[in-house]
Amino acid sequence: MRLFLPNTPLKEIFLYAVFKLGWSEMDVIASAPGKVILVGEHFVVENEPAVALALELRAKVLARERKGEDRYYSRNFNKALTVRQGKIVQGGENIDLFRPLIRIAEIIREKAGEDSNFELIVDSEIPPASGMGSSAAVAVATVAALGKFYSLDLAREEISQIAYEAEKVVHGKPSGIDNTISTYGGAIVFRKSEGFIRLNVKLNDVVIILADSGIPRRTGDMVLKVKKLKEKYSEILDPLYHAAGHLAIETARALQEGDIVKIGELMNMNHGLLSAVGVSNLKLEELVFTARQAGAIGAKITGAGGGGSIVALAYREDSERIVSELEKIASRVFSLDIAEEGVKVHET
Ligand code: PMV
Repeated sequence: MRLFLPNTPLKEIFLYAVFKLGWSEMDVIASAPGKVILVGEHFVVENEPAVALALELRAKVLARERKGEDRYYSRNFNKALTVRQGKIVQGGENIDLFRPLIRIAEIIREKAGEDSNFELIVDSEIPPASGMGSSAAVAVATVAALGKFYSLDLAREEISQIAYEAEKVVHGKPSGIDNTISTYGGAIVFRKSEGFIRLNVKLNDVVIILADSGIPRRTGDMVLKVKKLKEKYSEILDPLYHAAGHLAIETARALQEGDIVKIGELMNMNHGLLSAVGVSNLKLEELVFTARQAGAIGAKITGAGGGGSIVALAYREDSERIVSELEKIASRVFSLDIAEEGVKVHET
């Protein structure tokens, strides 16, 4: 399947709400973009810098009033959970899916000092467990929707922070790059101990291609695997982490300067480093080399690896050829632009 998704204009979201969800004036809709880690995943967990781009695939969350109980519903999975006075009364088997959202509701309610009930409807364009930041985007959009529902005036920093608490429920100890890029949008260079800098990037001549291997994996498991290898071979891998940090800084610089060829070369190098820490496999290598042979400027694993997606950078005129080659071996291929806009509450 091939998807070319344009920017989602406000009108479309409004119509979507009216026709698909049964919008009323009391409803709040928020959305947040998915992401791709261009360079630096895994190394970012050990406080090296990494570069991430927000992508034009969004998670949308609607919050509305509900009498006497909270209801969580995912349109993607067609699964629901109902909680009445702190007790699950329906959909208990779906608890893992909604745990992060329950954590968000707890935090927001405490901040608001109010506990009226709500229904949350999640509808995301971002494929889950594919390295495209689906869980973070859902968390960020949920914080924004519930915050507005409870009349809180949350700053972006708070939205990102609360979403990070939800991410911890799923991923253990994530670096925080996913919730940050989804909140702020655009392109960022991120470092755990220092926060992030937004990069001024103009990538008009290129597109970001993502090819999903279709192999599911858990980010937390992959992070643990890499951590163990790093502990076992610290003398060998420490310098490699250091190199990854330099690589991310160089990539940020190349993005600001619009040096596309250099970005590609650095992506390819970064792929080698990710192979070295053990997160590649035959399918991911096949996808990476197919993209390069079809003309990508650079291609690498993105996100946790072990499955999930690869990212390729391509000149617009080459993208169709690359996409069609990847489509032969990937479960899904996306050709996307950077999303300048981060989290957004859609005023109704
Ligand atoms: O594959 P994803 O989207 O879950 O990204 C994981 C990125 C890691 O660097 C491997 C982990 C992290 O917390 O940053």
